[in-house]
Amino acid sequence: MTSARIAAVGSALPERLVTNDDLSQLVDTSDEWIRDRTGIRARRFAGEGETASTLASEAAARSLEAAGVAPSAVDLTIVATISGDQPMPSTAAFVQDRLGLTGGAVDVQAACAGFIYGTDLGAAQIGVGRAETVLVIGTEVLSRFLDFTDRTTCVLFGDGAGAAVLVPGEEPGLIGSILENDGRHARLLEIPSGGSRKPANVDEEGNRENVIRMKDGREVFKRAVVGMAEAATRLLEKSGLSSDDVTLMVPHQANGRIIRAVADRLRFPRERVFVDLEEVGNTSAASVPIALDHAWRRGLLKPGDVVLTAAFGAGLAWGANLIRWTAEAPS
Ligand code: UT7
Repeated sequence: MTSARIAAVGSALPERLVTNDDLSQLVDTSDEWIRDRTGIRARRFAGEGETASTLASEAAARSLEAAGVAPSAVDLTIVATISGDQPMPSTAAFVQDRLGLTGGAVDVQAACAGFIYGTDLGAAQIGVGRAETVLVIGTEVLSRFLDFTDRTTCVLFGDGAGAAVLVPGEEPGLIGSILENDGRHARLLEIPSGGSRKPANVDEEGNRENVIRMKDGREVFKRAVVGMAEAATRLLEKSGLSSDDVTLMVPHQANGRIIRAVADRLRFPRERVFVDLEEVGNTSAASVPIALDHAWRRGLLKPGDVVLTAAFGAGLAWGANLIRWTAEAPS
């Protein structure tokens, strides 16, 4: 098996900043409640003409440039998203067209854990010699799938994209992964229409249904803490490492309280846990690669560092990647 490593990462956020006060004009909420219960102060919403594929392409172009890899070298593009441009074709196809990429292109859907899945699948393709250069992207425009009358969900999510360039490496850059899903709770967090079960966008009363619905936020919260902590613990054990060996934990940015609870369960010092959700919100599949890019560009990741990522979301899908960082500081 050939090893795969991350050559560079990149990210893109829409310009439009939406503050908690902005949302309190739409639903019965407050800056204080949102900051206190989630840690989020603001999130970005896509502007007109911005879609999952345009943000993905921007993030991918930045990662390719930072890696010094030509678009023509990419032989597999994996896009993780739950808010793709349209049901068909894949968002990866639009990214391929925009950037002039060739080779295979496919979307993976594991909600907030999508980038964790995509990274492992991409590294496996390099591992078995089926690909040389894999672009893994997490991208979301969830603002178009929010119910702005539902205060329990519309304050949580934001838009953005992050990307990583995977290449063969002598040392394993991706040390290992855990991928999990518990389909028994598939309806706990969902977009109930827009697919073959219910193609229509409106219910009998004329309400739009292709919006995010969360049946029980507390239940999702509890399962997120247990799932991410358990996956991280199992991954460290299986890799023969301990949390002392981890330089930086880069968790899915859903909620500051979830992140702190996961760190505490792992007995992991909070100052070694990266958090950027204050100004980004929960960007689902894009959250981990955006955070990796922010951490890298802020000088928090250097070659040789060990990075632990973990994510949890609809599916219920969750997982973790353990990464030996190899990318030099961006110029
Ligand atoms: O990406 C992965 C997917 N999603 C998640 O990870 C989300 C996981 N869940 C959470 O992060 C938290 O459960 C939330 C942030 C969604 C909610 O926080 P909570 O502390 O679990 O609040 P709660 O649902 O227990 O609600 C507490 C109160 C309720 O009022 P009552 O019944 O106590 O009077 C809610 O109606 O807060 C109320 N509430 C709000 N108040 C102001 C719920 N949302 C809001 C809001 N503004 N936006």
